[in-house]
Amino acid sequence: MSKRKILVTSALPYANGPIHLGHLVEYIQTDIWTRFQKQRGHQCYYICADDTHGTPIMLKADREGLTPEELIANIEQQHRADFAEFNVSFDNYHSTHSKENKEFSTLIYQRLQQAGHISSRTITQAYDPDKKMFLSDRFIKGECPKCGAQDQYGDGCEVCSATYAPTDLKNAVSAISGAKPIEKESLHYFFDLANFSEMLNEWTKDGHLQSEVANKLAEWLDGGLKQWDISRDAPYFGFEIPDAPGKYFYVWLDAPIGYMASFKNFCEKQALNFDDFWQPETDTELYHFIGKDIIYFHALFWPAMLTGANFRTPSAIFAHGFLTVNGEKMSKSRGTFITARTYLDHLNPEYLRYYFAAKLSNGLDDIDLNFEDFSQRVNSDLVGKVVNIASRCSGFIKKRFDGLLSTSCSEPELFQIFIDANDSIAKLYENREFSKAMREIMALADKANQYIDDKKPWLIAKEEGKEQELHDVCSMGINLFRLLCVYLKPVVPHLVAEAEIFLNIESQGWAVGIKPLVNHPINKFKPLMTRVEPDKIAAIIEASKENLEKVSEPKLKQFEPITDEIEFDDFAKIDLRIAKIIKAEHVKGADKLLQLTVDIGDETRNVFAGIKSAYAPEELEGRYTVVVANLKPRKMRFGLSEGMVLAAGAGGKDLWILSPDEGAVAGMRVK
Ligand code: 2FM
Ligand code: ZN
Repeated sequence: MSKRKILVTSALPYANGPIHLGHLVEYIQTDIWTRFQKQRGHQCYYICADDTHGTPIMLKADREGLTPEELIANIEQQHRADFAEFNVSFDNYHSTHSKENKEFSTLIYQRLQQAGHISSRTITQAYDPDKKMFLSDRFIKGECPKCGAQDQYGDGCEVCSATYAPTDLKNAVSAISGAKPIEKESLHYFFDLANFSEMLNEWTKDGHLQSEVANKLAEWLDGGLKQWDISRDAPYFGFEIPDAPGKYFYVWLDAPIGYMASFKNFCEKQALNFDDFWQPETDTELYHFIGKDIIYFHALFWPAMLTGANFRTPSAIFAHGFLTVNGEKMSKSRGTFITARTYLDHLNPEYLRYYFAAKLSNGLDDIDLNFEDFSQRVNSDLVGKVVNIASRCSGFIKKRFDGLLSTSCSEPELFQIFIDANDSIAKLYENREFSKAMREIMALADKANQYIDDKKPWLIAKEEGKEQELHDVCSMGINLFRLLCVYLKPVVPHLVAEAEIFLNIESQGWAVGIKPLVNHPINKFKPLMTRVEPDKIAAIIEASKENLEKVSEPKLKQFEPITDEIEFDDFAKIDLRIAKIIKAEHVKGADKLLQLTVDIGDETRNVFAGIKSAYAPEELEGRYTVVVANLKPRKMRFGLSEGMVLAAGAGGKDLWILSPDEGAVAGMRVK
């Protein structure tokens, strides 16, 4: 097997908040993959950094009375500590606010400019006259022009899903100062992505992407590529654009360049050749692990930038899905928005590493962390199947054979079955089919346990003259345990490192050419992993709810002023009906909406209602409520809404749908 040279990255986490379990799906996935490559003997480097630039970081520092540099230094310490304790083992962790990144961002920009891929023009944008800064859509809030919902962001309404320009918002204010935004012109710089249409058309179909990603990109490419706005006006925390005073690179320009910068920083420390990995003609491999929300940046902008600046393009981009907890989006109010630190305060990080491995595929599906399933898998697989083998056999070896394994392998065929599995397990790891790999490994663990169950060393131990058999069986068990450790090493490196101490062996490579341990002294067995304690999970949820209090947004106004009077005739136009909620469901991708099927007498209607924060679907089914039945059907992002459910309250959990007294019948008109 020839040695591959592989450079691997995970997306750079923003330096404005803690690492949470959603992030960890990716870092654990990437870490398993890179550990596997290293265990196979390849030259593989895992590179990352904090993503430090942009408006949110600048504003957060401001709120906390820190300079951005101070803020990002603090956060970097926290990120590093979290990753280290989860055994996410980067070869280099750097920052996008670094000299290397400034150099590469400048270089790439200048090369793109010289090649004619940068243009500039004046655009008009919302501007906060108090804060003296331009406002991106997410920093403008107001009333939805369609449904009137309060506190909606400039790019779309989360209640009715309408999309609009920020200028369409009613009573718009700056989310930063509360001032009324004005419109202001400014010169912006653009990357002419369309110059790379042909290149991207080929590249995206050339095996660098998962098929579902390639299909999505084909849609985007067919829709035509727009210029990408890569500049932001001062005040901005980032790098100033050369020869453009007061203009800064947009954070998403220098973020992926941060991969190169971190690697450059590593090369300098390690005396490695940077160009080997980044020049256009190279036999080295480059892989980016990312979440499915940032495909656009990595599979379009990034390869185009690299090509335009005469660097190599990635060998592949590996996108993954999002994490849900107990079947739902992570939520602060449910206590399922769990930070890495909160988890670490209560549970062993390797439980989570194993659980994610047991759930991960190479596709884009979301993965669910279900705490019952989590405990069950960890307890039954790692503790019950794997560690148990060692604990069942080691006592006899220690007590009866002075800690020495027997002089020959009594079941070479069984040992060979375990060795032969290496090829297929390696293929699964290589293809990021971790859940399948875990299944194969656990099938081997079942075999090992079956062997011990069949031999029953605890009975042999009681019989006279069966010393040799007892010795052989227990030694065999230990040897099988050792091979399971080889296969699990990328996933639970700490557990395996402890097992290696117990087995009294060097750090293990892949299972090629491994011979049974014979006549070999082992050390005293210490429990390598204990069962998940249910009260620890409850404590995590509780502690995560506490986070909520610290970060919760100011409450919405409870009572709104009564607005203009209307004529009776206006009121009479509204046809309010009693409705029975027949079905209530979550809407994929919607934060606030539930989809309701309501019976309004002689017909059923499909209605989207922004009440998800207050109701679980199962609480609603069978209930009666009031709907506006003659509201013109509205096309929403998720489908057609044929009516409106009436609800009152400040929002969040404080929201109540109107309920008629008992006896009301679906279809009755409310007068
Ligand atoms: O989406 C994010 O969290 C970004 N900070 C990821 C950046 S990845 C890379 F391009 F730097
Ligand atoms: Zn709306």
